[in-house]
Amino acid sequence: MILDVDTGIDDAWGIYYALTAPGLDTLALTTVFGNADLDTTTRNTLLVAEWLNASVPVYRGADAPLLRPWGGPVPAFHGVNGLGDVCLPSPLRKAQAGHAADIMRTLVKAHPGEITIVAVARLTNLARALLADPSLVPLIPRVVLMGGAAFVPGNLTPVAEANIWGDPEAAQVVFQSGVPITMVGLDVTMTARLTQDDLDRWQATGPLPHVLKEATAFYIGAYQKDNPGNLGWCPVHDPLAVAVAEFPDLVGTQRYPVTIETRGQWTDGMTVVDARPNVAPSSVEVALHLDQERFQKLLKSRLLS
Ligand code: BDR
Ligand code: CA
Repeated sequence: MILDVDTGIDDAWGIYYALTAPGLDTLALTTVFGNADLDTTTRNTLLVAEWLNASVPVYRGADAPLLRPWGGPVPAFHGVNGLGDVCLPSPLRKAQAGHAADIMRTLVKAHPGEITIVAVARLTNLARALLADPSLVPLIPRVVLMGGAAFVPGNLTPVAEANIWGDPEAAQVVFQSGVPITMVGLDVTMTARLTQDDLDRWQATGPLPHVLKEATAFYIGAYQKDNPGNLGWCPVHDPLAVAVAEFPDLVGTQRYPVTIETRGQWTDGMTVVDARPNVAPSSVEVALHLDQERFQKLLKSRLLS
């Protein structure tokens, strides 16, 4: 697979999952603006890969949406440095030459029908790859993406989830491309939880666990401020999408046509799900139910052990 990230606290967990999962082979990490600017998300991605001793190449991608100016970072949830403002060293490695969208095209063409794209950030890189070369569509077996909100509220606006809201035109390109999509949105990711108790019990040794433990406490704090009923947990959006790439039946899905609102006064970035009966067949499977027990077991045995 190729993992597209805007590292970000939950992205860091997603990379951790991807690079340690026995059932996944990550050929490249590609970066995009989002939780922070592109330089910061790339630096964070390089650091996480380095801490995992992984030789996976990292490619920089888009630094702004396809058509709009960038709306700015999300420091309230991810900190100014994207990793909860934990003090960070500089990475030893640099990103590879070449744009993320180009490496997506190259890898998909080199392994036709074999590469799942897992996108846990704005969909700008993938949209650019598909716009540059529409013949990629039948060569991509599946895109598993963290994004959208089908039948639950949004998180950036009342109806829009951050990854879609952050570049709605790019999301529309991807959703309308016909490529098979599993949309792992807020319907399931808000129920994929990591608690402060889990963190306290974690014997975190080494730089990645240490940074993740501290950064995730910051993330939990942000979710608590956002929701006073929250007694100490955060959703782990991005690792859930990666886990679904490894175990598709971790979530129950339903096929619906999904269109992205790009011109709404109040609804920009909304994933408009057509749940009427007898609508046209769709290439989009929307995740609506999470096997909680299995996900919690995975989290604990793979990442928190
Ligand atoms: C998504 O937005 C980003 O802030 C997170 O990393 C995640 O991918 C959640 O809406
Ligand atoms: Ca992300």
